[in-house]
Amino acid sequence: MFYIYVFDRPPMKKPTARPTALFLTCASLLLACSQTNTPQTGTNTVSPGTSPTPTATPQASAAGNSAAIPVGVGVAQTSNVALLGQEQVAGAKIAEKYFNDKGGVDGTPIRLVFQDTGGDEQGAINAFNTLINQDKVVGIVGPTLSQQAFGADPIADRAKVPVLAPSNTAKGIPQIGDYVARVSAPVAVVAPNAVKAALKQNPNIKKVAVFFAQNDAFSKSETETFQKTVKEMGLELATVQKFLTTDTDFQSQATNGINVKPDLIIISGLAADGGNLIKQLRELGYKGVIIGGNGLNTSNVFTVCKALCDGVLIAQAYSPEYQNEINKAFRDAYRAQFKKEPPQFSAQAFTGVQVFVESLKAINAQSKVSEKPLAELRTKLNERLLTGKYDTPLGEISFTPEGEINQKDFYVAQIKMNADGVNGKFEFLK
Ligand code: ALA
Repeated sequence: MFYIYVFDRPPMKKPTARPTALFLTCASLLLACSQTNTPQTGTNTVSPGTSPTPTATPQASAAGNSAAIPVGVGVAQTSNVALLGQEQVAGAKIAEKYFNDKGGVDGTPIRLVFQDTGGDEQGAINAFNTLINQDKVVGIVGPTLSQQAFGADPIADRAKVPVLAPSNTAKGIPQIGDYVARVSAPVAVVAPNAVKAALKQNPNIKKVAVFFAQNDAFSKSETETFQKTVKEMGLELATVQKFLTTDTDFQSQATNGINVKPDLIIISGLAADGGNLIKQLRELGYKGVIIGGNGLNTSNVFTVCKALCDGVLIAQAYSPEYQNEINKAFRDAYRAQFKKEPPQFSAQAFTGVQVFVESLKAINAQSKVSEKPLAELRTKLNERLLTGKYDTPLGEISFTPEGEINQKDFYVAQIKMNADGVNGKFEFLK
């Protein structure tokens, strides 16, 4: 692996405005709430599904000679956002085992400390505060939503704790602060691929209806990209319909959308609301093409729209087919445990943990991680991670000085539901 050592601070980033408030709750569709069995937001947890290990001791040093190095994971383990977050937990846990089996950081294991953010900003803020001040983690992988990141990341930035966003794809995430980077490619580079794929499959598409969740920062950002792409490709943007991530009834927006007779409908929302919107569009008779955005990129939507999920196109920042050694190991481990192909959110969470581990190893090669005061280690880790190159399940990645991911390969998949209308898969398009 090739590393460049940069000891200067990266250029200062400009703060961005924090979006307004949020209404993400464990709403009427209680899927995720019933699927997860984890404590309330902000509660200290260890790797879900594993036997408890002690929390990090609040010592000045990040890891004593024999102690594991605590790495925080603050994602949604409860609420509807856990439809995405539970895939992140799975990916992070596979990474923890994979890297510890390989010796961790030169013989010192890492230990993931999980804090459930729930689905809203306050939950993410609580989780981040606990990870930073109580669990004394060296860095944080999280949160799940961009909406949460705009609330919680400034706290980590002020505390000088590096954050690797595993799934935050809205515009402006790395610009939150010097200590914020992401392994999740932004909407601007991922989303247009889905529109291109739709047109390749259906060259006759002319008229487009766009739907987005107006209370969610990512959905607002993604719809901007989709709307721009539609116009740039010479298509007619016939209507823009708004909803809330907490909505379950989309009859009026769906009817408005169908009334313009679109050939293509594009949805920027999250899994529960997006899945319900797809279902209701089909039930109301819409037969055209549907593109779902990144918030719907999970097989957990299958339980929401069931057979009616069939055919939905979703752009991907990860392919299980990607050929390299680490993706093979990750894919094998995921398939052995879950009996299906790994999803993008798991691969990105794995990658977040990987970037921390490899950066810690690079630091350790210069001077012992275990002997560094925590504050110094956090700063060093932030500087170091921005300068490395990483061969990950997502392919080879690196970061801009601002913390934006450099990634080469993107894909589009189409949902294929089985005849049972319950199970299905993401079929990657050529
Ligand atoms: N990509 C989604 C977000 O940024 C999950 O919120």
